[in-house]
Amino acid sequence: MPTADALLGAVTPNTRAIIINSPGNPTGALLSEADARVIARAAGDSGWWVIIDLCYEKLIYDNVAHNLPAIFGETIKDRLVLAGSASKAYAMTGWRLGWAVGPKNLIQASNALQSHTTSNANSIAQYAAVAALAGSQQCVTDMLLVYQQRRDQVLAWIAEEPRLRCVTPQGAFYVFPDVSDFLSPDGLRTSIDFADALLAEEHVVTTAGEAFDAPGFIRLSYANSLDQLREGVARLIRFARAHGPK
Ligand SMILES: Cc1ncc(COP(=O)(O)O)c(C=O)c1O
Repeated sequence: MPTADALLGAVTPNTRAIIINSPGNPTGALLSEADARVIARAAGDSGWWVIIDLCYEKLIYDNVAHNLPAIFGETIKDRLVLAGSASKAYAMTGWRLGWAVGPKNLIQASNALQSHTTSNANSIAQYAAVAALAGSQQCVTDMLLVYQQRRDQVLAWIAEEPRLRCVTPQGAFYVFPDVSDFLSPDGLRTSIDFADALLAEEHVVTTAGEAFDAPGFIRLSYANSLDQLREGVARLIRFARAHGPK
């Protein structure tokens, strides 16, 4: 769970901006509104910019209140950037379409930079995103329930091996189990080794925690069918038991 204390403990006098991603990749954890208020006040006092990556904002389970734009907007509207994406809520990964909302001069500068780096988003993808955003949001609500069922099911399957310890994600579509009980100096030494061997031996793709500065963990995505997930977790457990300490 990301906390204001952890974030404020990590800033230095050189900090100019902070990025908040909530619900977060890779853990699916949420920043609470109370902690968001503490960070917003600190950002107001310290002059930081705040960039909020809201790409999973529509994938929050259990109706938890999570209005970060309102909380930060009250305090630092002139140094706030909201970033979003069509990829997650609308299953449009691959369309490469996102957006940013912020002060005009910053968005103009971003446009200048982006037009010379990516040559901008193509117009077909832009029209598709307009249709996604302006159309009925029922499909998003329906998918949220499906994701929640998958989350609960995947957590239940992972719990069949208690040494795979896992926090319940509050949003997004990832679980982030701790695999450190299966690592050892003579076997799989790191979670990168674990993820590589799991791919080679069982053909299950995960992302090693090292990619997120969190060694000892692996990230699983449950943006997949329950059948595939059942098979994937079964292979993960078989693999972990075969390699870990007996
Ligand atoms: C936290 C976060 N931000 C941004 C993105 C980028 O999404 P896209 O480039 O597909 O819009 C991702 C994709 O995985 C993500 O997890």
